[in-house]
Amino acid sequence: MKIIMLGAPGAGKGTQAKRIAEKYTIPHISTGDIFRANIKEGTELGKKAKTYMDQGLLVPDELVVDLVVDRVQQDDCANGYVLDGFPRTIPQAESLDAALAKLNDKVDYAINVEVPDENIIKRMSGRRACLSCGATYHIEHIPPKVEGVCDTCGKELVLRDDDKPETVKKRLDVYHEQTQPLIDYYNGKNILKEVDGTQDMSDVFNDIVKILGE
Ligand code: AP5
Ligand code: MG
Ligand code: ZN
Repeated sequence: MKIIMLGAPGAGKGTQAKRIAEKYTIPHISTGDIFRANIKEGTELGKKAKTYMDQGLLVPDELVVDLVVDRVQQDDCANGYVLDGFPRTIPQAESLDAALAKLNDKVDYAINVEVPDENIIKRMSGRRACLSCGATYHIEHIPPKVEGVCDTCGKELVLRDDDKPETVKKRLDVYHEQTQPLIDYYNGKNILKEVDGTQDMSDVFNDIVKILGE
């Protein structure tokens, strides 16, 4: 099962992708998490990506496409994967499709988690992220057991650099301009599925399970 998560920043792609990965035992591949891990380790890729991410801009396609195309060909992806945050532009989607077509393969579902802009800014200011293991929390909706500490790995939780309100607004603009066109792109391929992302997290997940099957 090869799944793409679509949706605005903060729509809940990561939250749902983690649950999908657990239920269907497939890897969760988040390009945002990969970049944040690289920033933390101080790699060349991380340094390049950070200058874009901190401004709420997309990292250039050439820095992300090969990375994902290589990742989805690793052994653990043989039974599928859930891509979170990729593709984010039409050229990225076309590159992925072309790479998969060469392997006689294709994406099965593009799940769009729909949340209006008004809800997004509120969610982001409450989000806390673990930069070590990628877990996310929300100070109201999913608080960690101990304030400021990751339940999973015990490391410190932070407000992401790009979750400041001004940067969130920029990310939303970039989303509408560059990423939203993917909804039509996947609709045209008859694999688009829409879910209402304003519901409770477990209701969003139930809707996704109805699409993917038990
Ligand atoms: P990325 O990390 O992908 O960020 P994003 O798309 O902006 O999305 P988020 O991770 O912020 O939100 P999410 O939808 O995962 O929501 P979450 O589940 O955390 O990318 C960051 C940056 O990296 C980009 O800006 C770009 O620069 C670069 N980048 C990454 N991929 C790229 C690519 N392919 N090409 C170019 N550049 C790329 O939920 C949000 C919050 O809401 C959480 O606190 C959560 O607990 C809460 N929440 C979730 N669901 C619900 C619910 N149903 N009800 C209430 N609260 C909820
Ligand atoms: Mg995310
Ligand atoms: Zn952690």
